[in-house]
Amino acid sequence: MQIVILKNSAEVAEYGANIFIKQLQEKANSVLGLATGSTPVALYQKLIEATQAGAISFKDVTTFNLDEYLGLAGTHPQSYRYFMNEQLFDHVDIDKSHTHVPPGDAADPVAACEGYEQQISDAGGIDIQLLGIGRNGHIGFNEPSSGLMSRTRVKTLTKATIDDNARFFAADEYQPHLSITMGIGTILDAKKVVLLATGENKADAILATVEGALTASCPASALQLHRDAVLVIDEAAASKLSDCEFYKHIENENQKLQAQLAKL
Ligand code: F6R
Repeated sequence: MQIVILKNSAEVAEYGANIFIKQLQEKANSVLGLATGSTPVALYQKLIEATQAGAISFKDVTTFNLDEYLGLAGTHPQSYRYFMNEQLFDHVDIDKSHTHVPPGDAADPVAACEGYEQQISDAGGIDIQLLGIGRNGHIGFNEPSSGLMSRTRVKTLTKATIDDNARFFAADEYQPHLSITMGIGTILDAKKVVLLATGENKADAILATVEGALTASCPASALQLHRDAVLVIDEAAASKLSDCEFYKHIENENQKLQAQLAKL
């Protein structure tokens, strides 16, 4: 794993956005895997700005979101489809028919999960997958104990995740406790994975992901198996890592190597 430790959430958003901007400049018809939650919002804002400045275009882009609440239609303000429209799709030149979010209102969710896997495969697979991380180490809605080779399926949310996400729902509003999520195996199939984490409340999850054992108890630890996974985290999220100085040293060496290669 490449571990990039930056000062604060603004730097994390900028670094993460630059990875996506470079991806779209190199491959205009990229297939992007996208995430919801509060962490990627600032990154999406940077992508909107880059689009409006003419640096990138979403015209030929296809997207697949990680997850959706089961029981919410895409028109529901708390649905992840609604979130994506508001935070990104409505502000860039994307063809909405090329954007995919698991259908939370599917009559047959099991068939919908299989269909989602098929759509990803038909699109040629995901070039680059964006991830946040839950306090319990979840990625997508793959909660602890999720199979490390799992595919898109219906998952039950933990109480911790329901409590963390209660902030988005009004007190008297129905909050789903089931989801459709890409599996850990689906995520690992992406050619590149970029995980963003900011804030001290993610420090335990980042410690388990980077320095813990590969285990279903911390789904994000599965990224240890990925060939091209980048963790972009701020100092607060990195605060429990035992070897921060070493990770920063590796990153410095990496930057020097990239600069040398750019001159060739
Ligand atoms: C959302 C998702 C979740 C979030 C995670 C962190 O699509 O996949 O795994 O990334 O719950 O959420 P925030 O960013 O709100 O802390």
